[in-house]
Amino acid sequence: MRVLLLSILVLTSLSCVYGWSATGHLITSTIAYNDLKQNDPQTLAKAEAILAPIGKYFLDPDHEFISAATWPDDIKGMQWKVFNILHFLNEPVVDPDFTGEIELASDNAITLFDECMNTIKNAKGDAALIGKSICMRFIIHIVGDIHQPLHTATYFSELFPKGDLGGNLFEIFYPLKHSLKKLHTFWDACANKYSASIKVPLTDAHYEKLQGYSANITEVWPRSALKSELKVKSFEDWCKESGKLAKEVAYDNLNLHSGDTITQEYDDKARDVIDKQLALGGYRLADSLKTLLKLVPDSVIHELLEEL
Ligand SMILES: *[C@@H]1O[C@H](CO)[C@@H](O)[C@H](O)[C@H]1NC(C)=O
Repeated sequence: MRVLLLSILVLTSLSCVYGWSATGHLITSTIAYNDLKQNDPQTLAKAEAILAPIGKYFLDPDHEFISAATWPDDIKGMQWKVFNILHFLNEPVVDPDFTGEIELASDNAITLFDECMNTIKNAKGDAALIGKSICMRFIIHIVGDIHQPLHTATYFSELFPKGDLGGNLFEIFYPLKHSLKKLHTFWDACANKYSASIKVPLTDAHYEKLQGYSANITEVWPRSALKSELKVKSFEDWCKESGKLAKEVAYDNLNLHSGDTITQEYDDKARDVIDKQLALGGYRLADSLKTLLKLVPDSVIHELLEEL
């Protein structure tokens, strides 16, 4: 419990955005959007209908599905913080010399995903439409988040006896930027591979850029290159797989230490992993929505559309 409380205190005092950067989230949702548009337009139409009832608050009507991906981070800046601790989970990565006690929060990204899926499936009544609409935005966001390896793991060592908050307390020197950075931020920012200035509402130029990034990523990582990964269907297993990448790549099998300089080799490897994770996040988001929205009857969707 102490670890949980401490984490909450530290997290709520972090002013930075805690997730893939906006660009990482928007690449994931663009890949999912394109995939559904091409292979399952009916599911896309249902998802858009569920997003619509509160769409007037989001001011990006031309890209409602894609832009939904950043809203759960945007609300942190509006002092709406109740969901902050549900954007990640802390699978422990433990230094062999560490002898302290490890306690973990019981609610995490898995709770958020499961409960949002349940709300869309089961919530009844007119007012529940608002809940479904909010939950759709969280699902689009959280499937992206947990594909950022440092959203699924935290490192315990003598230096970080309470954990390093998914690399938020762990500093690295990044030669490309000539500066110290949090390890978490390096990964959030996609190892600097994609423009950091893309924001919602999307300008035409930013939308084109997102489409360009997504096309490049899915060319290297088409569904056919990810067959075995896409057979894994459970959110919890995606988190485990991402946690393994945190240990093996982000913490370099515990060979990376706070204060170290990022090598070219580390940077290259991180960029490859990030592209693969963005592609997987996009396809798995599309697949999750396909499975979920088969369970939502057309009558519910018609009701939503009549509300508009
Ligand atoms: C996509 O890849 C090509 C070839 O590597 C590159 O020239 C182009 O700039 C990339 N597109 C974007 C939007 O990054």
